[in-house]
Amino acid sequence: MKNRMIVCLCRAKNERDVLRAIEAGAETLTDLQECGIGTDCGGCHNFLRKMLGASESVSAGAFVPMPSPEAWSESVA
Ligand code: FES
Repeated sequence: MKNRMIVCLCRAKNERDVLRAIEAGAETLTDLQECGIGTDCGGCHNFLRKMLGASESVSAGAFVPMPSPEAWSESVA
């Protein structure tokens, strides 16, 4: 059940869906929206930006420990 936490309720997209979009080249919120993620209420946008920011840091070579799903949930609440 890894990466199955729903992050975009409106579009029923989970972390894995977002990570796949990022791995496929999504670099901005607009890119994710073009993949059908975060296109409705916007309630997930802060969380999506955090996921994008974490992936940018990793791709830049910096070590950024990924927060636990619980920590992510608290940070966007
Ligand atoms: S929760 Fe993602 S657009 Fe509404």
